[in-house]
Amino acid sequence: MKILAIDTSADETSVAVVDGRRVLSNAIYSQILIHKNWGGIYPSLAKRAHEEKIDYVIEEAVKKFSIDEIDAIAVTKGPGLAVALEVGIKKAKELAKKFNKKLISVNHLEGHIYSPFVQNSQGNPDRQFTFPYLALVISGGHTEFAIFKNHLQYEVIGSTLDDAAGEALDKAAKLLGLGYPGGPVLERLAEQVDNGDFYHFPRPMLKSNDLNFSFSGLKTSFFYFLKNHPEVTGNIAKLASSFQEAVLETVMRKTEKAINQTGINRLVIGGGVTANRRLRLLSRRLAKKYHGSVLFPPYKYLTGDNAAMIGVVGYYKAVKNLYIKEIYDLDRAPRLDLSSLDF
Ligand code: KG4
Ligand code: ZN
Repeated sequence: MKILAIDTSADETSVAVVDGRRVLSNAIYSQILIHKNWGGIYPSLAKRAHEEKIDYVIEEAVKKFSIDEIDAIAVTKGPGLAVALEVGIKKAKELAKKFNKKLISVNHLEGHIYSPFVQNSQGNPDRQFTFPYLALVISGGHTEFAIFKNHLQYEVIGSTLDDAAGEALDKAAKLLGLGYPGGPVLERLAEQVDNGDFYHFPRPMLKSNDLNFSFSGLKTSFFYFLKNHPEVTGNIAKLASSFQEAVLETVMRKTEKAINQTGINRLVIGGGVTANRRLRLLSRRLAKKYHGSVLFPPYKYLTGDNAAMIGVVGYYKAVKNLYIKEIYDLDRAPRLDLSSLDF
């Protein structure tokens, strides 16, 4: 079954064609250059860029196929930036109507949770599902724990109360004048100093027994540290590394808590921050300590936002006949969470 998928939830216009779990094509137009100078996503510019590029990205993704081969269209309904989501949804509805295709709505977070199971066109990697998993989504917009109980079944057990982990990395990079997105830059700088922890920034929320995160205090303490210690600003790599360690250690300690509380030692981790080599190393170490396993998105493009993962979730929904009944009822849901799955 072939599905055409569209994701315009943030700063990437992405369209894919998948066949089951296999990705046949995935086209992405990234707006990074547009938002670089703002240190984050600038909504009205994002909307305009999605509108300008979406037809071109669709063309790129479907050029090897005829529209008759496509069985259904999947689109991200939320969470994300309202004005951006709207562009993808409008286009999906237009295509569904014009070509008489069924429509499926997908939660963007489900996409990140399924991303470790997405395959290339040859069907690799051949990972089988062994439920339940402890799922962690760690991106620029989200830091969430969920029990991935079975296909399309999640129980949220923790999330961030304010900033997401990737957002914290982006904000720290901005304070250091390193541009957007900050995660990859901090990663490279940290590697120059062997991922050392030189300044011992706070590890927020570790004393609380729940599985929630809060990164805004860490960001504030970083801000004041830079302000009060102007002499350290020359040590950019040490600052980057110490900040990254504070974020990643917090995530790892909470993940350990989640393993202990749920008794689940099989991890699936998705989202933009999973591109980070230090995060991967620490997660593997943790899984090993609990005799478990950890799955990450198998290809780099699957770590960030992409329509391929949306198409794969769309496939599992199609198998269960979870199509949108009335096309015009589909609306964006910028704050959609995993526990409020409606179809
Ligand atoms: O999943 P994503 O592309 O978009 C959201 O849904 O938010 O995640 C983007 C986030 C940004 O905060 C970016 O700094 C972070 O992922 N990121 C990284 C790395 N690559 C991207 N963080 C740490 N290390 C990386 N290599
Ligand atoms: Zn995302």
